[in-house]
Amino acid sequence: MAAATNLLTSVFILYLSFAFQLFPSGNSELQSSFYGESCPRAEEIIKEEVIKLYNEHGNTAVSWLRNLFHDCVVKSCDASLLLETVNGIKSEKDTTRSFGMRNFKYVATIKRALESHCPSTVSCADIVALSARDGIVMLGGPRVELKTGRRDSKQSYASDVESSIPNHNDSISAVLSRFGSMGLDTESTVALLGAHSVGRVHCVNLVGRLYPTVDPTLDPEYAGYLKARCPTPDPDPKSVLYSRNDRETPMILDNMYYKNVLEHKGLLSVDQQLASDPRTAPFVERMAGDNGYFHQQFARAVVVLSENNPLTGPEGEVRKDCRYVNSN
Ligand code: HEM
Ligand SMILES: *[C@@H]1O[C@H](CO)[C@@H](O)[C@H](O)[C@H]1NC(C)=O
Repeated sequence: MAAATNLLTSVFILYLSFAFQLFPSGNSELQSSFYGESCPRAEEIIKEEVIKLYNEHGNTAVSWLRNLFHDCVVKSCDASLLLETVNGIKSEKDTTRSFGMRNFKYVATIKRALESHCPSTVSCADIVALSARDGIVMLGGPRVELKTGRRDSKQSYASDVESSIPNHNDSISAVLSRFGSMGLDTESTVALLGAHSVGRVHCVNLVGRLYPTVDPTLDPEYAGYLKARCPTPDPDPKSVLYSRNDRETPMILDNMYYKNVLEHKGLLSVDQQLASDPRTAPFVERMAGDNGYFHQQFARAVVVLSENNPLTGPEGEVRKDCRYVNSN
């Protein structure tokens, strides 16, 4: 009797292990060197293009980093960000949350190089992930190993953008719970916001801290500088006025961001709140004091972000042109 039960149990366990191997959960299908056989030079080609583009337009590397965030946070890392508005279906990049995003035309440069080597093989979602990885290196950040095999969405999720991507003035609690839902803990969230060590912020996203009264958590001298950059409370939304995220090393992904935040020179409200919230402040202090630790945590967090809920296997498709879904 006992023997029969044991046999049944082992058969059942065997069955379970097969079932899980035959139908692995989405996440486990990302793998290292997914293109090892189908397009062996894929990762090399992306890196070469990222370097070439960086040498012509340094801020492309900054864009690749922001693209990773905006793509992966909405639904999944599926290149839904890159779709154009078609037949009245709004693109994610045309929403207000995506204000200021740039350099999309150079994604096409990378895709063209891949298509000429291995047509219809490398997904736009993997281009988003790997270009961010290589961009981070160009900006002096850490080298991150990323898995590949992401597939492209067949649709845009513009209506999910506002609920998925935090606003510049959201509370840290809201930010932590949003990032937490993607498996990013508090330390990772603090590290990822270090991306604001590079790039710029337009006045529309700043004036709330300057007018009618200056946010008391802003260093007064710094507030004066920002008012000079953004002289009116109602900037034309199309206005090109902006401020650098980090005036000292604006194109280097380093821990200057945390030093600035500790000196009350955080640009966005969410940046500044990191220094005052008791959950995040200890990490801010540690990152401000140790660039190596920041890089280590940043690298760890980028991996988690880049693996948010990917489409894999037969899901989605590999787009030929990152701006449009393939027609049948
Ligand atoms: C609470 C989360 C976040 C909020 C509210 C936020 C918000 C913003 C805003 C308002 C801008 C300025 C846009 C403009 O006016 O042009 C910006 C820029 C940027 N963000 Fe974030 N962000 C967040 C997290 C992240 C993360 C996690 C990353 C990447 C890992 C990232 C990367 C960037 C980059 C690189 C820029 C500069 C873009 C450029 O200069 O072209 N952000 N962000
Ligand atoms: C956040 O900023 C937006 C403008 O970008 C503004 O409409 C909104 O009222 C602000 N929210 C809070 C809570 O201050």
